[in-house]
Amino acid sequence: MAKLPSYLAMHVPLLDLGEQYRALGDSIREAINDVLASGRFILGPKVAAFEKAMRAYCNTPHAVGVSSGTDALLAILMALGIERGDAVITTPYTFFATAGCVARIGARPLFADIDAETYNIRPSAIQECIEKNCRMNSNGEWTTKNGEKVRAIVPVHLFGLCCEMEALREITQRYRLVLIEDAAQAIGAEFSFGERIAKAGTMGEVGFFSFYPSKNLGAAGDAGMIVCGDEELAQKLRTFREHGMEPRYFHHVIGGNFRLDEIQAAILAVKFPYLEKWAAARRAAADFYSSEFVRVGLTERIATPCEPYRNRGVTNHHVYHQYVIRTPMRDALREHLTKCEVETAIYYPLGLHEQKCFAYLGCKKGDFPEAERAARETLALPIYPEISREAQRYVIDSIAEFYN
Ligand SMILES: Cc1ncc(COP(=O)(O)O)c(C=O)c1O
Repeated sequence: MAKLPSYLAMHVPLLDLGEQYRALGDSIREAINDVLASGRFILGPKVAAFEKAMRAYCNTPHAVGVSSGTDALLAILMALGIERGDAVITTPYTFFATAGCVARIGARPLFADIDAETYNIRPSAIQECIEKNCRMNSNGEWTTKNGEKVRAIVPVHLFGLCCEMEALREITQRYRLVLIEDAAQAIGAEFSFGERIAKAGTMGEVGFFSFYPSKNLGAAGDAGMIVCGDEELAQKLRTFREHGMEPRYFHHVIGGNFRLDEIQAAILAVKFPYLEKWAAARRAAADFYSSEFVRVGLTERIATPCEPYRNRGVTNHHVYHQYVIRTPMRDALREHLTKCEVETAIYYPLGLHEQKCFAYLGCKKGDFPEAERAARETLALPIYPEISREAQRYVIDSIAEFYN
């Protein structure tokens, strides 16, 4: 392909929230004004209404609004009594918070490598991690070499694609572990257990979402939500989100201020009815990228996202929080795209096991080869519900130009 003529150049942002706010701005301002007029700013009717809407959407008995995805996981770990002396298995290829929260409550993150195609934690790697690094004590509990009790697995539905939940549920049952779903990036993503279709966040004991502004459902600040099926756990989570206080000013446990505030809940409630439409638009944009990459013959050069559940009778088989390609020439391609004014992002440039703050865990380069390869080779392309086909075509042409 010839070099792109300069008159064709355009700027393509990674994410553009402008159109969403132009369309919904009036309703959002009205919802904020309602809160201001009510004088109820903390855990009032807007939070209760949004929790109710989330319960219905996820088809789950309990939803607890919290201040962020990070605080959701902290509250969950606290409510489950996971603490110093415990270990939690998770992926090394995720946003920092997933393992950061485990470490913050004093437990040890144990990493298991990812699948090369989906980038999600690989169930067989979890099994290897347990069988190789842990042993069963006389109480039938699995412990690490340092004697920490393995308590839970935190799979992350990365980029909007569910992990292999059937296999993960089987593993958690076999090793008697709690399954905590990090669905921060995957609100609305679906997984089918044969006849039964379940939403991300509802397939383990407990799950959580982030409403960070760039997420598929984004607040105008930080916000998060926990969903679970167990009444007692939900009650504990509500207590932990308010400093472990029950009743007011009586503290039986040490929690934190993990409350979702009214203004964020009001904004989220205005945007929530559009979530499915936005997910469909993201999938259509992803389909366009993937089919165009085939058409222009680029699939020898780049790997497009894997869709293992596409034909399993679920609509939201992938909610495309990110559209991530893979190429060994990632850094050079990214440089070229930056010159073409196509914004891209690297999620994530360094596996968590190689982060300086986790040096004390004793992991080394080479321990999780697929996570390391993903960190070297993946690149997120612009995707959002309103992205135009013209902008996508420009991204594709710019990539084609690089390889030609
Ligand atoms: C996989 C994952 N887990 C946890 C979090 C933490 O969510 P928050 O930013 O709302 O604290 C994020 C947010 O980026 C995430 O992507």
